[in-house]
Amino acid sequence: MKKALTILVCIGCIVILQNCGSSKKASKTATAMAVSFDKDVMPIMQSRCTPCHFPPDGRKKALNTYDAVKANIADIIARVKLPQTDNGFMPWKNKKPALSDSLINVLVEWQKQNMPQ
Ligand code: HEC
Repeated sequence: MKKALTILVCIGCIVILQNCGSSKKASKTATAMAVSFDKDVMPIMQSRCTPCHFPPDGRKKALNTYDAVKANIADIIARVKLPQTDNGFMPWKNKKPALSDSLINVLVEWQKQNMPQ
């Protein structure tokens, strides 16, 4: 009887510990996901959308400023999410590596958070 009680108490402790762990993790990812243009979005644009969208070297639609990216964010997200074989896919013709899901998610989060500068 005593043994069963000990086991029950142990299980209780493990459940409590696990819950503590996961709630801590959840709040950590929530703070990590606060995104800004200068810190998070611009580096993506610079690494994947240059030179084509960065005048004067690039002659395609300029996407090198906060205002330009903000105005085009819906189109940008739609294009980086397309299948890589689609004609509208960006980066154009896979001249630069496609955005990973986590990079796409940064853009989506930035739009959701009302595009902080
Ligand atoms: C190698 C050059 C090149 C790269 C790199 C590139 N693009 Fe493009 N982009 C183009 C070309 C060419 C077009 C016009 C063809 C088209 O509309 O499909 C275009 C068109 C666009 C348009 C539509 C603009 C309009 O005309 O209204 C958007 C939005 C866009 N690109 C976003 C991006 C984003 C975001 C990236 C980076 C993730 C990127 N592009 C990377 C060449 C490039």
